[in-house]
This record gives sequence, C-alpha cells and structure tokens, in this order.
Amino acid sequence: MRFFDHPSRDGAVQAAARLLAESAARALAERGRFLLCLSGGKTPVALLELLAAPPWREALPWRQTHVFWSDERCVPFDHPDSNCGVARRHLLSRVPLPEENIHPAPVDTTPPEAAARRWEDELRAFFAGPPVFDFSLLGMGTDGHTASLFPGHPALEEKTRWTAAVAHPSAKPPVPRLTLTLPVLNAARRTLFLCGSEKGALVERMRNDPAGAARLWPAARVEGEVFYYSYP
Ligand code: 6PG
Repeated sequence: MRFFDHPSRDGAVQAAARLLAESAARALAERGRFLLCLSGGKTPVALLELLAAPPWREALPWRQTHVFWSDERCVPFDHPDSNCGVARRHLLSRVPLPEENIHPAPVDTTPPEAAARRWEDELRAFFAGPPVFDFSLLGMGTDGHTASLFPGHPALEEKTRWTAAVAHPSAKPPVPRLTLTLPVLNAARRTLFLCGSEKGALVERMRNDPAGAARLWPAARVEGEVFYYSYP
C-alpha cells in the first residue's frame, strides 16, 4: 500500500493519469494490450474527463485498450446510475477505443444471479485464466466498501467465483448490483484508489492500522500494488 496526499483533486487526477499511462505503456510492451478496469460512483468522473482531453487523449493507446468494470448497477446502460453509461459519456465516446473493446457487465440479464454467472462466463471467454487487469481504478464508500463489496456481505468472502450479485438492502443504492469479487480485484497488477476528503479518516486508519482496517473495511482488503491518492 502506498499513500499519497495531493494538494488538490486536480493534482490527484493528474497524478492518476500519469500512473495509468505508465501501466498502459508497460502492458503494451509486455503483452500488446492494456486491460483497464473502472469503478463507478462520482469520483472517477474528473479522471475520465482528463483522459478524454489533450494531452492524454492522444497519449494513451486507446486502440489497444480494453475496458471492464469492477461493479455495475442493474440498470439500463443509458440510466444515469449506470457505471458503463458514465464512462461512455465522459470518456469512451470521446477517444478512439473500439466498441468491441468495451466489456460491460451484462446487467440486461435477469435475475441478477444469472447476470453474475453470465458476466463470469464472458470474463472466462476473454481471459485464458483468472482475470488480471493491468490497472484497476477503485473507489471507496464512507462505510469502507469498494466495488460493490460491502462490509458484512457474503460476496465479500467469496473465494472462488469471480462475480457476485448484490441485492442486500443495506448496500449503496441502487440495488441490485453486480460486482467482481476480492480474488479478481486482488489479481490486478496495479490498483489505484482515488479518495476525496470524505474518505480521509478511512485512509488514515488504513495507513496507520492496515490490519485493523482490513478487519473492518473491504477497501482495506484489496491486495497487490495498491496506491491511495487522497485529496482535500
Ligand atoms: C459504485 C462504485 C462504488 C464507488 C464508491 C465511491 O458503483 O458505486 O463502484 O464502489 O466507487 O461507492 O463512490 P463515490 O466516488 O461516488 O464517492
């Protein structure tokens, strides 16, 4: 875990773009493609907008990039709550990333449990083995959730399946949702959490008491090369 305190949100997303670009360059050199996993919520929008504009629009290898999501709300893709819809509006419609490289969770499948199974089947078809993303952008809630893995929910303890449906009423609305599970999130080569001031107390506990934080919060259980970019 590496923690960075940025003086502003703009500074944090500029640094995030540089970190993402470094991951993309390494992925292209080593494997000829860049596998990017986005989260939902409001925090990523500033970064998506930055990546959609010069210089990042021209600097990143969009034609060799594939986009996935860490979780998705079970709403139509044109619904304002759709994580895929948000990414399309703020980034994917503005860069030369091929449509076939966009891999949304199949929220049009019902019930959510069937959608989670179909999502896992689609991930198996793309990845030779367990999914490994080159760069996973995650957020965290003030309750310590990440993706749609919420404290105390059974999906958090899933050890073998790659996806889960989350319908618990205490989850962040809207529910139901689909989420990647910890084994997949932990397999990412690099993970970045962007954390605004309302997450500051959680990040401080993660920094000072990682084991204690991991007992409380799913966001503290994400392993691997994990960066936390905090900003006021
Ligand atoms: C979602 C996200 C979720 C989000 C956090 C933070 O679909 O809601 O994937 O995990 O990252 O809830 O949301 P904000 O960025 O809006 O604070």
